Amino acid sequence: MHPMRQDLEEVLLTEEQIRHRLDDLAMEIQRDYAEKDLTLVAILTGSVMFIADLLRRLPMQLRLDYVGVSSYHGETRSTGELILTKALKLDVRDRDVLVVDDILDTGLTLVNIRAMLQKLQPQSVKFCTFLEKDIPHRENFQADYVGFHIPNKFVVGYGLDYRERYRNLPYVGTLRPEAIAAKL
Ligand code: PRP
Repeated sequence: MHPMRQDLEEVLLTEEQIRHRLDDLAMEIQRDYAEKDLTLVAILTGSVMFIADLLRRLPMQLRLDYVGVSSYHGETRSTGELILTKALKLDVRDRDVLVVDDILDTGLTLVNIRAMLQKLQPQSVKFCTFLEKDIPHRENFQADYVGFHIPNKFVVGYGLDYRERYRNLPYVGTLRPEAIAAKL
C-alpha cells in the first residue's frame, strides 16, 4: 500500500482508471493535432504527473513549455489572486497551443492563462485538464479536453497537493479530516 493511503478518506480515481482514460484522451489529441504544429503548455506545479503521462502517449512532433502560476497559497480554497511564477519560454505566435493543467476548479487560472496567451497571437489555443470540478467556472470557461469530471470535493494526488504534500500519490483521493487538521 502507498504510505499516504492511510491519510485518504476515499480513492476517487485508481491508477488503472487513470491509465485507461489517458490512453483515450491521448488518442483524441493525437487525432486532432495530427496535421498541426503542437505546442503543449503545462501549468506548474499540479500538472507534472498528467503532462508526463500524456507526453509519453503522444507520438507526433511537438514542443513543450511550462508556465508557473499559483492561486491557492497553501490553503484548500482559492483566494482569487494569481501570481506568475514562471513565464513562457517558447514563441507561440502562429502555433497551435494546447494548455495542460491538473484541475479546472473556479476557472481563475485558465481564464488568466487564456488572456495571457491570446496576446501572443497563436494560431489556436485549446485547454486540456485532467480533472474538472462539477461547478460553474469563471466566465463560463469550458475546457476542450477533460480527463474526468469530479464532484466539488478537495482532492489530492496525481500532482494535486494539500499544503504542497501528496503530489506524488499516483492516484486521486480525498483527505481524511485528521490529515487536513494535521497541517503537515
Ligand atoms: C491549482 C491547480 C490549477 C488551479 C485550478 O493550482 O493546479 O492550476 O489551482 O484552480 P482554479 O480553476 O480555481 O484556478 P495552484 O494555484 O494550487 O498551484 P499548484 O499547481 O502549484 O498546486
